[in-house]
Amino acid sequence: MRVLGIETSCDETGIAIYDDEKGLLSHQLYSQVAIHADYGGVVPELASRDHVRKTIPLIKAALVEANCSKDDIDAIAYTAGPGLVGALLVGTSIGRSIAYAWGKPAVEVHHMEGHLLAPMLEEDIPAFPFIALLVSGGHTMLVQVDNIGEYTILGESVDDAAGEAFDKTAKLLGLDYPGGPRLAKLAEQGVPGRFKFPRPMTNKPGLDFSFSGLKTAAANTIRAEGNDAQTQADIAHAFQQAVADTLVIKCRRALEQTGINRLVVAGGVSANTYLREKLQALMSAQKGQVFYPRTEFCTDNGAMIAFAGLQRLKANQTATLSIKAKPRWSLDTLESVNA
Ligand code: KG4
Ligand code: ZN
Repeated sequence: MRVLGIETSCDETGIAIYDDEKGLLSHQLYSQVAIHADYGGVVPELASRDHVRKTIPLIKAALVEANCSKDDIDAIAYTAGPGLVGALLVGTSIGRSIAYAWGKPAVEVHHMEGHLLAPMLEEDIPAFPFIALLVSGGHTMLVQVDNIGEYTILGESVDDAAGEAFDKTAKLLGLDYPGGPRLAKLAEQGVPGRFKFPRPMTNKPGLDFSFSGLKTAAANTIRAEGNDAQTQADIAHAFQQAVADTLVIKCRRALEQTGINRLVVAGGVSANTYLREKLQALMSAQKGQVFYPRTEFCTDNGAMIAFAGLQRLKANQTATLSIKAKPRWSLDTLESVNA
């Protein structure tokens, strides 16, 4: 079985074809970073318009790359949510319509399920159950995963997501959008220990996250002292350390609470090298294992959508004829593939 996946929930157009025997056959990605950079963040209307321009050409390119035609495709999967409504409408309209025109089933994919399953595109895949730390621009969550579609949210952000905190702090440091990876680069030059920021919500029980106070602490320090380049790097280092420590503390708690020793880390911030080192150390201490997607599949892409779509297709969980964009859609409302 072969699935064409379409991702347009935010600022990347991602198209891929995944085959359940041969694996990933093609993967096309167009990033809108340059379009939004001038504004310091994603402009939803510009995002939608650009998805309109890119989606169909990238579908054509993906078919060519996979050396196949529409007749070789068994279903079209697209991100139905959560995300920017206008951006989602492009992928859902195109995906649902192509499926209708080609006489194939359509599959609605939850964007965060796509991220969560992305490590399964690799060789060494995690067995169920596992704990997933999802850290993207829009979400920070700890999820117990008992099977595909069997998700218990153990904790989530009550305000800013980790990626959002990275991006906002980066902006205050004068770094261009998207700031997360740029802040991480700057942090490499930082002197550890010069600044210390809070590890929010770690001194009380629970698995929820809050990064807005940490962002404010960093903002105040940047305003008061962040005039020279070395100080900026030192602040970036302390900020990254505080985010990583907080995530590690909460992961350890989730593992201890559930008795599970497999951890999956996915979403844009899982590309962060410093965080990966810290989580690796945690899992070595716990005698457990940590799984990531390859770096290019940490951030948004079509491969994870094609893969998640294939799992839903196998379970006969296909879409009706209506075009549905679900900007708000909770992960724990999904159906089990065994339902
Ligand atoms: O998963 P993603 O591509 O989009 C959403 O679904 O939100 O995540 C994007 C987020 C952005 O906030 C970006 O700054 C952050 O991931 N990010 C990073 C790194 N690479 C991407 N944050 C910290 N360090 C990185 N290396
Ligand atoms: Zn994402």
